Amino acid sequence: MSNPLRLGSAPLVSRAAEYTELRRSRHPELDTEACLTIASHRGPVQFAAEGGQLRVRHNGGGLATSLRALTGLTGAMRWICAADTPQDHLVARAMSWNTAPLGEGECELRMLDLDAAAHNGCYAVIANPLLWFLQHGLYDACRPPRFAEVERRAWRDGYVAVNRAFAKALTDRDDIPVGSTVMVHDYHLYLTPGMVRVARPDVLIHFFGHIPWPDPATWSLLPRDVRDAIFRGLLGSDIVAFQTARDRENFLSGCTELLGLQVDSSRGTVDPEDGREVAVRNYPISVDPASLRQVAASAVVADRARTLEPLRGTRVILRVDRADPAKNITRGFEAYARLLVAHPELHERVSFLALIQPTREAVPEYADYMRAIHRVVDDVNARFGTNTWKPIVLRLEEDPALAIAAYKSFDVLFVNSIADGMNLVAKEGLVVNETSGVLALSRHTGAFAEVGGVAVPLDPLNVEQQARALFRALSMPRDERQRRLSRGRAVVGEQDLTRWFQRQLADLDAVRARRACLRTKAQRRFVA
Ligand code: F6P
Repeated sequence: MSNPLRLGSAPLVSRAAEYTELRRSRHPELDTEACLTIASHRGPVQFAAEGGQLRVRHNGGGLATSLRALTGLTGAMRWICAADTPQDHLVARAMSWNTAPLGEGECELRMLDLDAAAHNGCYAVIANPLLWFLQHGLYDACRPPRFAEVERRAWRDGYVAVNRAFAKALTDRDDIPVGSTVMVHDYHLYLTPGMVRVARPDVLIHFFGHIPWPDPATWSLLPRDVRDAIFRGLLGSDIVAFQTARDRENFLSGCTELLGLQVDSSRGTVDPEDGREVAVRNYPISVDPASLRQVAASAVVADRARTLEPLRGTRVILRVDRADPAKNITRGFEAYARLLVAHPELHERVSFLALIQPTREAVPEYADYMRAIHRVVDDVNARFGTNTWKPIVLRLEEDPALAIAAYKSFDVLFVNSIADGMNLVAKEGLVVNETSGVLALSRHTGAFAEVGGVAVPLDPLNVEQQARALFRALSMPRDERQRRLSRGRAVVGEQDLTRWFQRQLADLDAVRARRACLRTKAQRRFVA
């Protein structure tokens, strides 16, 4: 269906009223219980100005990529996110909802025009680095997070305020039908479920955490009021969900140890002491193998593959990551240097292709990390490189087609994260590879629970072990590599993205049925 409101160069403001009407007539199902609204800090797309026109581009990252792929599975999905680029802000100010093209489909999108200082405090001080670092094991008792005046202000005027803005949008009675479902995603929005619960007890609230949920001792590194608010905020949900069984257990023990709440570990429930029961679940996020394979076979990927031709003739170790300290990129290069010291026979015969996407550049810790990456790459290349051989080929850009081209032909896919909620690179690589490539995977990724059996395990803090693991992966016989790859591909095929989402919808249906049953019982008691 052609969309008369697809964003082009026409003025947006004049179209807002027309749009609201059109939306009502085109989507009557939005006014039913079946309606699903997603809330996440990072949205599916962002707007940019190009040659005087407003253009839309897909956002990268696991959350946006996975949820974007799900629009086809649901009748009516809407998405609320934070405006990011200057053009996002223009759109947000011009119209409360717009229609964002998402691959084959589209989704109704509301971008929140957040106050800049509040947004910065939330994103660049509290969510990143503080919560991100805490949850990825980058702090410990000897190096606890700083929570002084700056952080206190950023918490109050940034994190809390942004969560309130999301909760306000999610409780708007014109947009969120009675009894419909809201799905809140990730660590920027821990307080939102509790705020929504207070204003809209009729709505079903589902929270999904994409990043690791650490044990109670780690959460104790935060001031008590802050960590209590985080746990209490999440307990506003009907279902609190994580990637792995370990995350789920850590959350349950946090509820007992930090909040003193009753927990039923076998059923995975918490009593938040307000007459409800909160279900705590784990659903490992995944990829859509069919669409990945389709992209892998496309002309654009074949074109990007040509840029990798200079690497032919060497065995390729590949990594694909955002430039994030949790990804352990510098330590990975150190391990590679050890490999080259221990195995001079590999010189000129192996290359490390690092496709690194710059990320969170306004956060000082990330800017420092980028500099550290450059330092170690320069050092390794200067130490071992020759006129005809560059040991590390570093590409600093976001280029999904190049990543898929590289997945097709790696010898070793190296994922040594210090901690990772899931790590979809590991799953994508298994699905796409055509050269009997081996996965070398950190034990501390969510993916390890599913595909660790086919991988060469990595101990992310142990450089020597990673060097040995790289050698083992490179010297594995071809038939064993192929066996592992096929098994890994089968696991990802069974536990794909559709299954991830459908399991959540099924559990939400169970909550809905339980609520209806409790309502009926209460009515019967009233009549009797
Ligand atoms: O879950 C973590 C996550 O939200 C991923 O989706 C993505 O890889 C990354 O963080 C994106 O971070 P940002 O929104 O800060 O770019």
